[in-house]
Amino acid sequence: MSDAPGPRGLRALLAWQRRLREDVLAAYRTLHREYGDVVRLAAGPIQLWLFFHPDHVHELLTTGARSVLRYRRLMNVFRQWNGTTVLTAEGEEWVRRRRLVQHAFAPAQLRRYAEVMSELAEQWASALADEARRAGGEIERPVDPEMVRLTVRIVCRTMFGVDPTGVTDQIHEAVVMLSQVAYREGQLPLRLPQWMPTAHNKRKRRAIGILDGLLWDFIRQRRQRPAEGDLLGTLLRATDAETGQQLTEQEVRDEMMTLLLAGHDTTAAALNWLWYLLARYPEHAARCRAEVEEVVGPGRPAFDDLEKLHFLRAFVEEALRLYPPAGVLFLRQAETDVVIGGHTVPRGSLIGLSPYVTQRDERWYPNAERFLPDRFLPPGNERVRPGSFFPFGLGPRRCIGEAFARTELMLVLASALRLVDVAPCTEGEPRPRMTMALRPAAPLVLRWRPAECATTVAAAHGSS
Ligand code: HEM
Repeated sequence: MSDAPGPRGLRALLAWQRRLREDVLAAYRTLHREYGDVVRLAAGPIQLWLFFHPDHVHELLTTGARSVLRYRRLMNVFRQWNGTTVLTAEGEEWVRRRRLVQHAFAPAQLRRYAEVMSELAEQWASALADEARRAGGEIERPVDPEMVRLTVRIVCRTMFGVDPTGVTDQIHEAVVMLSQVAYREGQLPLRLPQWMPTAHNKRKRRAIGILDGLLWDFIRQRRQRPAEGDLLGTLLRATDAETGQQLTEQEVRDEMMTLLLAGHDTTAAALNWLWYLLARYPEHAARCRAEVEEVVGPGRPAFDDLEKLHFLRAFVEEALRLYPPAGVLFLRQAETDVVIGGHTVPRGSLIGLSPYVTQRDERWYPNAERFLPDRFLPPGNERVRPGSFFPFGLGPRRCIGEAFARTELMLVLASALRLVDVAPCTEGEPRPRMTMALRPAAPLVLRWRPAECATTVAAAHGSS
């Protein structure tokens, strides 16, 4: 079994730890460039292995999935507000949760969610276009707050059957706070006791309190209404086919917390990049818009239209390749000695994987740094090597919300593109920065104006 190159010794490990904390993507790319597809950072028994080759990524996340679990310390941090859920559980408990939560993502449900997604996206774009008209034809607006509000509304309406207008900013502020906590505590060797009245602990408790209050309120509201087919209704009724067990209310609250958090921030991050790319490449924006016009006509885009929107799909795929919201996956920890690509990774080692680095490798994607959506045409492109494209992870722990997210990204664009047009405010590419999700390091501001086809669409829906 071969060893792998990489920095050695405590001093080197500490220096790399600092670089990883400051800018994980830059650090991973440098390590990949300097040491190759398999990197081992080691000081005594402490080992961090990085695997960048698609074959190793695939092996680790599929056949190796039982031996490499999510890093326990990070999952314990998440458990403070998520409890034990499909995200944080392992083993039998995870199997049970995944089976139950999966009900909410069945194809028939997605079809229903799609209607809400299109409706809310159209409302958002129509209001923005109206504002631009009132302002003389154009306005400048940062993208992220707009997308966060929209994705929070979508997740709350589809999953919990409530409209959170008025509390979307509150929800997102709490989420940002908890993301910072997760980032910080996941890296600290020790966590200060919860009862200590540090500023950090106080902020954390406040954020959890805000979300907790809202979620219990959503559950209460939901109990008063007859059964509806949203996720909350599904979770409250879902019965495990094998055990006949149902989730308790606390378990339902915990799964809601996970889905609220995981279900909007990554999607909002992806939409930041999608709008940037539409602004930067007007020729692609025009092609997307023309395709939507042809496939959808003046009505509202629906779930069944998506399979015909080939170019729009390729556009979204290429954006997820260059700017994967999960730029690095959750760290893994080897439960036993595990052999990957001929290397024995000893039990207890940490393992890092990065869609951002692997998906920008010239060997798997010629002209890898360029945005070329056509590389994902025709649909079902067989040239994509297994393990070289994993924005939603792979194997049994792959994203449970993948189909939901893909539907949402495409429908938000399909609905909004006919109402608004977008242009850059500044030259150059925003620098990507990884915190909990990959976003532009500095807030991205774009110029928005009504699209030329806006009048036809507005007339079809009887709105201004
Ligand atoms: C563009 C949007 C999204 C991206 C890029 C994304 C990405 C990912 C990735 C990479 C993982 C696996 C992480 C790992 O293996 O380390 C994951 C897991 C997960 N995602 Fe997503 N996600 C997105 C949207 C969503 C949505 C909309 C939901 C729910 C509504 C969701 C819920 C989850 C959950 C619950 C897990 C844990 C699944 C498990 O461990 O079994 N995600 N996501």
